[in-house]
Amino acid sequence: MVELRDVYCEYEKGNPVLKGTSLNIYDGESIGLVGANGAGKSTLMKAMLGLIPYTGDILVDGLRVEKSNYQAVRKSLGFVLQNSDNQMFMPTVKEDVMFGLLNYGMSSEEAEKKTDQVLSDLGISHLKERHNHRLSGGEKRMSAIAAVLAMDPSHILMDEPCSALDPRNRRVIINTVLGLDRTMIIASHDLDMILDTCKRTVILSEGKVVADGPSSVLLTDRDLLESNGLELPLRYYQSGPAGS
Ligand SMILES: Nc1ncnc2c1ncn2[C@@H]1O[C@H](COP(=O)(O)OP(=O)(O)O)[C@@H](O)[C@H]1O
Ligand SMILES: [Mg+2]
Repeated sequence: MVELRDVYCEYEKGNPVLKGTSLNIYDGESIGLVGANGAGKSTLMKAMLGLIPYTGDILVDGLRVEKSNYQAVRKSLGFVLQNSDNQMFMPTVKEDVMFGLLNYGMSSEEAEKKTDQVLSDLGISHLKERHNHRLSGGEKRMSAIAAVLAMDPSHILMDEPCSALDPRNRRVIINTVLGLDRTMIIASHDLDMILDTCKRTVILSEGKVVADGPSSVLLTDRDLLESNGLELPLRYYQSGPAGS
């Protein structure tokens, strides 16, 4: 379980970006985190990973996110950042996916087998020997997702997982998320993706949770979405809101 209690974050003194965010995310739940640009979605994820300082409490499986617990927290909390460039540090896709596995003591044969499996599940076996700096944005994103899935964390954070992906890879990610029996926290502008993958949606506005409930209710409420800088998912936008 991931618990946030009254979390405040600021980049500049006296100008908080998260203003008392509280949220419980239960094991196995998939939740969509939505909100206009600048609402604080990425900041919230970075705070959960201990990448930026915060006040209040963030607990992952009962462990407070703080320096002494970073290693344990990051073992159970996998993440795909908005900018995948920042999280690939080995020369090739294969080495990058294997890196974490080897670090946790897996033999190189086992690690390579696991890597082959994950790349194959994601339909990107052809990228295995490719150099990271020569991948397209979408290929990098898929490789970063492979590296996270290989580690089998119990909770996964994804920040805009489908940006830079073509429709086929977007569908692969949606199907992958649907097939995972994990806690998933997905920040996305792609409300159609959230509707497909997350039963629960949390709307963030100016650093606060302004709505929290079933995606099927929140993401079909045009007034609620528009008052928070969002638009109906495309499938409703094109055919008018549900029920009309
Ligand atoms: N490194 C930073 N330094 C200063 N301000 C930042 C930094 N990162 C984000 N912000 C500000 O924090 C606010 C929330 O940003 P962010 O969490 O990235 O929003 P979202 O992911 O919802 O678009 C924005 O006003 C943004 O300009
Ligand atoms: Mg963001």
